[in-house]
Amino acid sequence: PRSIYLSRHGESQFNVEGKIGGDALLSPRGMEYAAALPALVKDNVGDAPLTVWTSTLRRTIQTAGDLPYPKLTWKSLDELDAGVCDGMTYEATYPDDFANRDDDKFNYRYRGGESYRDVVVRLEPVIMELERQDNILIIGHQAIIRCLYAYFHNLPQADLPYLKIPLHTLIKLTPKAYGCDEERYKVPI
Ligand code: F6P
Repeated sequence: PRSIYLSRHGESQFNVEGKIGGDALLSPRGMEYAAALPALVKDNVGDAPLTVWTSTLRRTIQTAGDLPYPKLTWKSLDELDAGVCDGMTYEATYPDDFANRDDDKFNYRYRGGESYRDVVVRLEPVIMELERQDNILIIGHQAIIRCLYAYFHNLPQADLPYLKIPLHTLIKLTPKAYGCDEERYKVPI
């Protein structure tokens, strides 16, 4: 059976600073994760074919850098666009906006940016293609992996924006007739 592997990029400099969005490079810990990924993936996939999909942002491309497989970058895999809040810390964002966001996080759309609902829509072509493919590893972003994970596990929209998708963890989903089997591999860094 084929599997879909999901991972966030390694810790970025913006993750360290608690900043939203941006196009930062990896932190030293993030680089350690990138260096550990090839062996972890190889242990799992063996000699089966695999293709790696990243976003167009540097932190995902850098995380995939040492993986010896064909790669594809998708603009549709870029992180949720935080509009006017891009580059801010959560504490620095507008208090009213953030109250609204927690009221209905799935539908909350950043000014000049996107909502989780918008991201689910833009991921449709990615999901269509995923359904047709063999083994795929997606190196993505927190909001993006939440949406993909919720799709494969059929989880309710309201829960989706709160799913725990930790850094430095490879998630393996193996679709079955109904639902998916799941395994997680945490890289201790
Ligand atoms: O903090 C990292 C990050 O990927 C941000 O770029 C993004 O806005 C956020 O996570 C998404 O998570 P949440 O919707 O919980 O703020």
